[in-house]
Amino acid sequence: MRGTCWHARSAWQPSMGKAWKWCTGWWGRARSSSPGCGIMTRYGSWGPWGTGSRCRRQGTASGTFGSGREYGELIDLDRLGAVTVKGVSSEPWKGNPAPRIAETQSGMLNSIGLQNPGVEHFIEHDLPFLRQHDTKIIVNICGHTLAQYCAVAERLADCDVDMLELNISCPNVEEGGLAFGTDPHVVERVVRAVRHYAGQPLAVKLSPEVADITEIARAAVSGGADALSLINTLRGMKIDIHRRRPVLASKAGGCSGPGIMPVALRMVYEVCRAVEVPVIGMGGIATFEDALEFIMAGAAAVAVGTANFHNPYATVEIIEGIRGYMEENNIASLERIRGIID
Ligand SMILES: Cc1cc2nc3c(=O)[nH]c(=O)nc-3n(C[C@H](O)[C@H](O)[C@H](O)COP(=O)(O)O)c2cc1C
Repeated sequence: MRGTCWHARSAWQPSMGKAWKWCTGWWGRARSSSPGCGIMTRYGSWGPWGTGSRCRRQGTASGTFGSGREYGELIDLDRLGAVTVKGVSSEPWKGNPAPRIAETQSGMLNSIGLQNPGVEHFIEHDLPFLRQHDTKIIVNICGHTLAQYCAVAERLADCDVDMLELNISCPNVEEGGLAFGTDPHVVERVVRAVRHYAGQPLAVKLSPEVADITEIARAAVSGGADALSLINTLRGMKIDIHRRRPVLASKAGGCSGPGIMPVALRMVYEVCRAVEVPVIGMGGIATFEDALEFIMAGAAAVAVGTANFHNPYATVEIIEGIRGYMEENNIASLERIRGIID
């Protein structure tokens, strides 16, 4: 989809033109980060946010960056705070039937269905590639059953990855995914079980498809989440009026991109006030200004998703934009402005 010319581009191009944001740097200098403003967890300062100009609070959102190999031909992956890879399951998944991607007025719909070659392939092919880079590796894990989630976490426990991100919020699979992410009791149980097998800090990825996101956030933290990431996509639909049928073979899919940013920002704001663990904010981030809004709402870090499809340089442009903003406003550390909105 790289290089695609979104028909709806004009609707959101004005803000994109300034510099595709992406809140750079929360994860800090991967291996060599100073933990100055990192948030301590039971693992110590795993959240290597770093300090000052070396603070790297931005990364990529799962499913929009592959494992970084293709983007790595265009941008320096070492500049990213973290790469969050596409959802990884215990066995290969073939995903949903095509068509499974569509453009919308301000973003896109997808019904990929977590297609992936499985955890063994990830360990053999993607992990060695990523490890050559000075960036944190966050592995998004998925499953149809609790046992499958646990199996992936257990398989990765001794691997050289920095964090797991538990996807209990995908709208594109019938079992697992969203079904695990909307009931607080189930959320707590799933997180606790996966936490037991995980060898790395565990972030839990939340769905916006709930009445009260803070209730789910608290449940995830009760279950042992070390961090939360939000939001995943919102279920949406598009109809081809000429063929008189849904554009996506699955009829509905996950809506992402700039159009969902106000929803994401509001939810990040609410969750940051409800829990103590770090929040990775995402949902529609496309410029450095967008990223800064998430930081001011309280996010400890931000992730760029759909914007990567439209502009493969989005992440680094956002990093540069944030750096410029910090210099202009004499801000030594993003901690100075994180969560400043009452
Ligand atoms: C094509 C596509 C694939 C995605 N795959 C995953 C996935 O495997 N796991 C996951 O947790 N989220 C997945 N997401 C959700 C994104 O990580 C992100 O949460 C969401 O798109 C909102 O951010 P954005 O508006 O910046 O894209 C996917 C999104 C898109 C567009």
